[in-house]
Amino acid sequence: MEWGMANRLARLIPRDGRCLFLPVDHGYFQGPTRKLEQPRQTIQPLIPYADAFFLTRGVLRSSVDPDNTKPIILRVSGGASVVGKDLANEGITTGMEEVIRLNAAAVGMSVFIGTDYERESLLNLARLVDEGEKYGIPVMAVTAVGKELEKREARYLALCCRIAAEMGARIVKTYWCENFEKVVQGCPVPVVMAGGPRVDTELEVFQFVHDGMQRGAIGVNLGRNIWQNEHPVAMMRAIRAIIHEDATPEQAQELYDSIKGQPAVMA
Ligand code: 5RP
Repeated sequence: MEWGMANRLARLIPRDGRCLFLPVDHGYFQGPTRKLEQPRQTIQPLIPYADAFFLTRGVLRSSVDPDNTKPIILRVSGGASVVGKDLANEGITTGMEEVIRLNAAAVGMSVFIGTDYERESLLNLARLVDEGEKYGIPVMAVTAVGKELEKREARYLALCCRIAAEMGARIVKTYWCENFEKVVQGCPVPVVMAGGPRVDTELEVFQFVHDGMQRGAIGVNLGRNIWQNEHPVAMMRAIRAIIHEDATPEQAQELYDSIKGQPAVMA
């Protein structure tokens, strides 16, 4: 692997081989998502605890100071919205020159397997990989399910992750599901878990993150279950403990409970 590619991957995935990516890209198709109405306010207190951020160029420019040293995964697909005809109808929104100009460590885009736009999104992924590899920029593929949340089961997600890896993605992001090892074992590149809509309790989040890690995920790319929580910093630190310190879900809960009242320290 070329030094540039290896260096970017090493910045994204620390030496323990695990990672906590924080996605704040939701506005690119959802508009001002709850608790992400003002991205700067959401992002700022969480900076110290994230290994990388996943966001669009618009939020990067407007809401992250240029002295930020945390790696940026730039969301480079879009073109559809929750009020439009089909969420799967995405194209590439940001060229590789711009990615380099913005000093991103990686790029991410969604693929919509099993939809009318399957072919288009997979060919877009392949083209993005071609461009990324030219400049040493890793591509993270996001296996999107659109509004069909019931698609979050092992057989379908394993299919999606494998195809994304075959297209050349260096990292694949998918949803946690029961029997998550089936997803990871069929995917020859590292897999990170997304969270999906907020679940009812913190413990449920800690349990699925822990379960996915035990079954082979290298980390998470988890958004709403962190920043829509009443105590996002405590949530972030508790999930960090599972990922980087092998905490159990119960230990994560204890940590969360012990720090949730503390005021946030600004980065
Ligand atoms: C949106 C995304 C998000 O980054 C992803 O869904 C992770 O966020 P959450 O944990 O809130 O689902 O790719 O398309």
